[in-house]
Amino acid sequence: MSDKPVLLIPRKLAADVLDRARATYNVILNDDDHVFDRDELIAACQNADAVLPCHSEHFNADVIAALPDRLKIIANHSVGVDHVDLAAAKARGIVVTNTPDVLSDATAEIAILCMLGAARRGSEGDRMVREGRWNFWSPAFMVGRQVTGRRFGVLGMGRVGQVTADRARGFGMEVHYHNRSRLSPDKEKGAIFHDSVESLLTVSDVLSLHCPTTPDTIGLINARTLDMLPDRAILVNTARGALVDEDALVAALQSGRLFAAGLDVFRTEPGGNPELAKLDNVFMLPHIGSATFETRDAMGFRALDNLDAFFDGGTPGDRLV
Ligand code: 8YV
Repeated sequence: MSDKPVLLIPRKLAADVLDRARATYNVILNDDDHVFDRDELIAACQNADAVLPCHSEHFNADVIAALPDRLKIIANHSVGVDHVDLAAAKARGIVVTNTPDVLSDATAEIAILCMLGAARRGSEGDRMVREGRWNFWSPAFMVGRQVTGRRFGVLGMGRVGQVTADRARGFGMEVHYHNRSRLSPDKEKGAIFHDSVESLLTVSDVLSLHCPTTPDTIGLINARTLDMLPDRAILVNTARGALVDEDALVAALQSGRLFAAGLDVFRTEPGGNPELAKLDNVFMLPHIGSATFETRDAMGFRALDNLDAFFDGGTPGDRLV
């Protein structure tokens, strides 16, 4: 047995990532890629020095309390870390890292797909053709909203928000944003800063969510805030389902107050929301924002970079706690 650190990889990662991991670590894999429940996750961690999880592995305070003393680092394969209790990890001296930057382009692509799919009735049209129900055409048929030249509101102008804003500029959209702090002019690129969420909402013909889930942002999009959007606005969510009160969203979509929604994330994952699924004016995807071959490799390599830095005695570049 070599003295390589033992690394638990609970999900099936890209082949190139696994090859690199094996070169440096004694890797424990989850052969059938099922999602570990709490007890399985705790048991699988018992012989590991490090774990490289996805957002499907929930390291809440209870799980972190049950981790062995030898486990020193949780190197996430995700930018979002709402599945990890950072305070609990910090209290136990466990380092936590994420994978920022490398998934911004892929996620921005999906945000734009969600915007266009919602605005131009993408899933409704696709289903109609696919199911053999396309037996009619008229100038009034399947008319949607044009996004070109409209106002694109970004809630959370971090890395993904900034790249998505760049893509929206390609449609001649006027970018507005709210962020905890105002960006420097070179990053703002002419985008109009709003110092409150409410101010941003009132001008967002398309509102795209890019903020993390925190106690302040959970349920931020609710009946009250949806009502602040311009009439027949479009909501795009590629961040986290918890940002949205889905009952309020269903009501706003049913009433026509909101024209449509493009959603890659849901409160319940996997699975989604059956009430949203009943609505034609929802374009839905199964949380695939970062799911490109290029980005999966890059996320895995970034997580390994963080692990390598840690086991070389340095500070991982993406250390959060
Ligand atoms: C990933 C994501 O698919 O990185 C994130 O925060 O939400 C997704 O892009 C997922 O987290 C991989 O673990």
